[in-house]
Amino acid sequence: MSVNLSVTLAGIKLKNPVMPASGTFGSGREFSEFFDISRLGAIVAKTVTLKPRHGNMPPRVCEVTSGMLNSIGLQNEGLDHFLEHDLPFMRKFKIPIIVNIAGNTLEEYAQICRDLRGVPGINAIELNISCPNIKAGGIAFGASARLAEQVTAAARYNTDYPLIVKLTPNVYNISKIARAVVSAGADAVSLINTLVGMSIDLNTFKPMLANITGGLSGPAIKPVAVRMVWEVAQSVNVPIIGIGGIMTAEDAIEFFLAGATAVAVGTANFINPRVMIEIIEGIEKFLDERGYTDIRQIIGKVQV
Ligand SMILES: Cc1cc2nc3c(=O)[nH]c(=O)nc-3n(C[C@H](O)[C@H](O)[C@H](O)COP(=O)(O)O)c2cc1C
Repeated sequence: MSVNLSVTLAGIKLKNPVMPASGTFGSGREFSEFFDISRLGAIVAKTVTLKPRHGNMPPRVCEVTSGMLNSIGLQNEGLDHFLEHDLPFMRKFKIPIIVNIAGNTLEEYAQICRDLRGVPGINAIELNISCPNIKAGGIAFGASARLAEQVTAAARYNTDYPLIVKLTPNVYNISKIARAVVSAGADAVSLINTLVGMSIDLNTFKPMLANITGGLSGPAIKPVAVRMVWEVAQSVNVPIIGIGGIMTAEDAIEFFLAGATAVAVGTANFINPRVMIEIIEGIEKFLDERGYTDIRQIIGKVQV
């Protein structure tokens, strides 16, 4: 097979367009026992915040029809721990590293960007703007075009790294949010994060999650994600990382056809830790069997 899977994303060269979705891969430690992580296109780290976060009370994950709900609440050990323990581990694989960050305020996003300046081995920052913003009364930055623009501008001002902004699907008009973050300096967008969902235990009549609601991910959200990638691809001129319910190479191909330059795999990693390798091989096979020599030949090629 001689299919070129390499793509360029926000100025970063990836040898293939498959990476983990933030929060479903940690920093790759557990997965390194199952496959050679250096085969991935990139590593996307779990969201890191300025200070450690305990996350939400358990139970905080549950299975639902065609997917899962989670209310982890961005549990992490904070930026200092990340820089000392996780980043050095990820660097060993010699593939691009995307650091996903979140803050409670604009200032926190800006501070993390400043703290990441000049740190070796980082190739891009991904802003997770799906978390509630305390100053604006708990609305997610990504739910308002104005806030999304402000947080992107704050990060842009404080970093020279390529900036990827990860969009939430919990909005009416995702293209409007995408245009806002691109106008504020985003070099790429990734979408989608989880959809707000809820599940109820029929024995106890209580919500399955202690947090009552959680983020829905997995195959259940794929059609929503493909639609949003397609819409955003019409609206902005930056590369898109497609995310949402990708379990197979064929799922990934749908995202490329809709306009994604790369894809990130989340929930599927919990079912089959080798799934990303199988997806890379499957994409190559799919293209080869149809006579394509380059992944870029199918990006955005949906016929509507
Ligand atoms: C258990 C779990 C934890 C997650 N943690 C994060 C996170 O820390 N940061 C983030 O940006 N997205 C997080 N996500 C969202 C995923 O990165 C991804 O956007 C979403 O799950 C949709 O993709 P999927 O259907 O392939 O899982 C998490 C998802 C799950 C299931």
